[in-house]
Amino acid sequence: MQPFRKRPEIKTTKEYPYNAETPPGLLREHFVTPTNAFYVRNHGDVPEVDPEQYRLKISGHVERPLSLSLEEIQRLPKTDLVSTLYCAGNRRRELMERTPMPGKVAWDVGAAGNARWGGVLLRDVLREAGVEDAARHAAFTGLDKDVESETGEPFGGSVPIERATADGVLLAYEMNGEPLASEHGFPLRVVVGGYVGARSVKWLSEITLRAEPSDNHYQAVEYKIFPPHVTAENADYSGGEMLGEIPLNCVTCAPQNGETPARGPVVVRGYAVAGGDRRVERVEVSADRGRSWTGASLSEEGGPAAWRFWEATLELGPGPREIVARATDSGGATQPETIEEVWNFQGYANNAWHRVSVRVG
Ligand code: MTE
Repeated sequence: MQPFRKRPEIKTTKEYPYNAETPPGLLREHFVTPTNAFYVRNHGDVPEVDPEQYRLKISGHVERPLSLSLEEIQRLPKTDLVSTLYCAGNRRRELMERTPMPGKVAWDVGAAGNARWGGVLLRDVLREAGVEDAARHAAFTGLDKDVESETGEPFGGSVPIERATADGVLLAYEMNGEPLASEHGFPLRVVVGGYVGARSVKWLSEITLRAEPSDNHYQAVEYKIFPPHVTAENADYSGGEMLGEIPLNCVTCAPQNGETPARGPVVVRGYAVAGGDRRVERVEVSADRGRSWTGASLSEEGGPAAWRFWEATLELGPGPREIVARATDSGGATQPETIEEVWNFQGYANNAWHRVSVRVG
């Protein structure tokens, strides 16, 4: 039996705390990922929250600290938004195949999903509280207790105040037209479009406006990028770069590794995501290790915070073939070619060209 009413195809990537990802074929079937197929990334138990007792506290560098009930939040103007959640650990498995990362979740390409979120703009709530000039970061804290580290603290993280008050940042109480499911943050979560999933804190209990980023374990220690020469043994956690915007990425969902498509035209399909306010502008695929590229067609649905689905047709002769995919964003950035360039000991933000090995019949 699948926990949390997930479809049977959803793959458990860690039993406890419960983590699961969407298989690539299923992911590419729906532009808006159904909730029962949506990946789950938990660092602790899923808390059971009584919506009547629930309060969201807003404190720190604000003119009027607030404590809001769910009803009060739901009385504010509602916004619906299609936005992609993208886990910074997506595609870690490829990095782990190069060097093992004990204790880390070996995500394939399915720690990503695109939902229609309903809620209130974070900036509308912050306006009620009055943002002081000293506020540089909005720190979010959840109601769950972390069991993956030794801290036993709630999960948390922060985004710069400019992002917190930007379009596309929601306090969401609905996912795909229904109240949030418990595993996705009932009754309220943050959804920060264009940022790694870790900043979209579930079971949100508190927003603190601060001069500095959050000092939560998941901002100050985990979800940080270190250069390739740094290891778990010699890491100085006061350094490293806190993850923020989604790394530009492009994934082939079909065909999948090990498949045997028939010779001739092979339809290649996938998704691509960009960070910040940038959009995916171009996706290209290659069957000759990047010597020549074929442009893919891109979906137009969903708005600026949504992923783009893409499709290309390659003419493939018989034998083993590697299909390579890469994207370019509206800022003109593209992806690194090899995992050597992106390797980091915590296994985040792998956005090297995505490669799928098939045998054409
Ligand atoms: N919020 C809380 N409170 N606890 C968590 O463990 N995981 C984060 C984020 N918010 C997490 C959290 C991470 S790393 C990701 S990728 C997304 O939630 C995943 O959201 P989902 O489980 O709804 O797909």
